[in-house]
Amino acid sequence: LHVHGAPVDWEAVLAGRGARRVDLPTYPFQHQPFWLVPAATRGTGPEAADPAEAAFWDTVENQDLAALAERLEVTGDSPLSSVLPALSQWRRRRRSRTVVDSWRYRISWQPLTGGRDTAELSGTWLLAVPGGGGEDAVVTAVSEALARHGAEVALLPVRTDETRTALAARLRPEPGATEPAGVLSLLALTDESHPDHPDLPAGLALTTLLVQALGDAGTTAPLWCATRGAVSTGRSDTPAGPRQAMVWGLGRSTALDHPDRWGGLVDLPATLDERAARRLVSLLAQGPGGEDQTAIRPSGIFVRRLTRALAPDTASPDRTWQPRGTVLITGGTGALGAHVARHLARNGADHLVLTGRRGPDAPGARELAAEIEELGAEVTLTACDLTDREQVAALLRDLPEDHHPLTAVIHAAGLPQFTPTDTLTPADLAAVVAAKATGAHHLDELLAGRDLDAFVLFSSVAAAWGSGSQAAYCAANAHLDALAEQRRARGLAATSVAWG
Ligand SMILES: NC(=O)c1ccc[n+]([C@@H]2O[C@H](COP(=O)([O-])OP(=O)(O)OC[C@H]3O[C@@H](n4cnc5c(N)ncnc54)[C@H](OP(=O)(O)O)[C@@H]3O)[C@@H](O)[C@H]2O)c1
Repeated sequence: LHVHGAPVDWEAVLAGRGARRVDLPTYPFQHQPFWLVPAATRGTGPEAADPAEAAFWDTVENQDLAALAERLEVTGDSPLSSVLPALSQWRRRRRSRTVVDSWRYRISWQPLTGGRDTAELSGTWLLAVPGGGGEDAVVTAVSEALARHGAEVALLPVRTDETRTALAARLRPEPGATEPAGVLSLLALTDESHPDHPDLPAGLALTTLLVQALGDAGTTAPLWCATRGAVSTGRSDTPAGPRQAMVWGLGRSTALDHPDRWGGLVDLPATLDERAARRLVSLLAQGPGGEDQTAIRPSGIFVRRLTRALAPDTASPDRTWQPRGTVLITGGTGALGAHVARHLARNGADHLVLTGRRGPDAPGARELAAEIEELGAEVTLTACDLTDREQVAALLRDLPEDHHPLTAVIHAAGLPQFTPTDTLTPADLAAVVAAKATGAHHLDELLAGRDLDAFVLFSSVAAAWGSGSQAAYCAANAHLDALAEQRRARGLAATSVAWG
């Protein structure tokens, strides 16, 4: 408000916060920012200033009886003997929340300042493009942009039916030929699916194939992978596209598996005009150690950062979720699913539907069901393979509508994966992607018209910052993160938890 010129009653704003006057530096400034940074973005831990606690003490200081009674969940005329346990409980609750909040991070996008708009390329740049390499507006625009800015462009069309050996043979340089200066892949831009694995985006499979074949051919040039609409740099940007986002998951993992020949990820704008082309060239021309997770937008280049997430006040309605009615937990008989099921049963859910491919035959499923019933919730154990849309539709159709209707979904189903990118087959990639991403896609689509209290996706820190030898897993989880963003942009409930 102040920055935008509105009058602010500073005495009221600063009351109870220990504010005091300080000397500000006088000229000359040494290009050092002195802007106030919110406490939670300053790398704080649980001991950091807690806005909820500050608000609590303000209530006490202002002798606001009604607000204090509401915070402590007691009546205004309660005697001290009943207020004291409420105070103690509030304090303990706050302390554990503050610890949990200190674990929270979010991805943010910052404009890249000080980029070199005059950078030029040199040498041969391989431009990997999907399919037969026919006319395509993006391919033409990128190819022309690279050539205009100093690169000799060699088109490399790659097809899904090409074998790794054949592609490596095409990449192997002739004796005496010089190494390419760089490789830019546009393979992720195809919307098609893999012919043998309909749930697998062809762009993801082709990118994996290219990474493998470049290694086989001994190419050491940095590989850049371009996407379009894979990330959203802020509220004014279009929401992230889950299928495109998968290549970012794969890329972050590949960067760890092959740091010696990794360039980076760049998300292209809808139109590649001359300004955007210049920005692309400036990114490709960076040396080692430059920005490797970037998005080109009409207003500039944005770079991806992991920042601490501000914890919302507990009084915020976004913060509270009261489990009720039926909650569907996919992977409900797995390790985390079982924990969540117990937690929800203890906290008010009336009916839990726990699914996995094996349903009641999963190890420990029946014991888990008995335990949950003892906690007071009804349980249904159902076998359902989430990769099969018909099975998911039948599962949702069979849920009780009158008696405890469905209010929330926890998608905890998934397959692990620990294989270096180099040995990953399209079938491995498809299997890992299907359980998480296709499953989530089916749930999202089949529940589109449903007003849910919560739609929680169990993702992983592996998607947020990459994890070596987990390219397929990172890709699948990146899909979940993007799907949550996209659902929120559609006004629907969604939370993706990057467990780590
Ligand atoms: N545990 C961790 O530390 C951790 C860390 C980061 C992220 N996560 C994520 O959190 C989720 C749960 O992890 P977890 O450790 O509980 O895994 P888990 O014990 O292996 O459980 C996974 C569950 O998914 C089910 N499942 C697998 N494929 C399925 C399919 N196609 N259709 C339906 N159900 C399927 C499995 O049951 P069936 O085999 O019977 O199908 C199992 O119940 C996973 O998505 C995982 O990636 C976990």
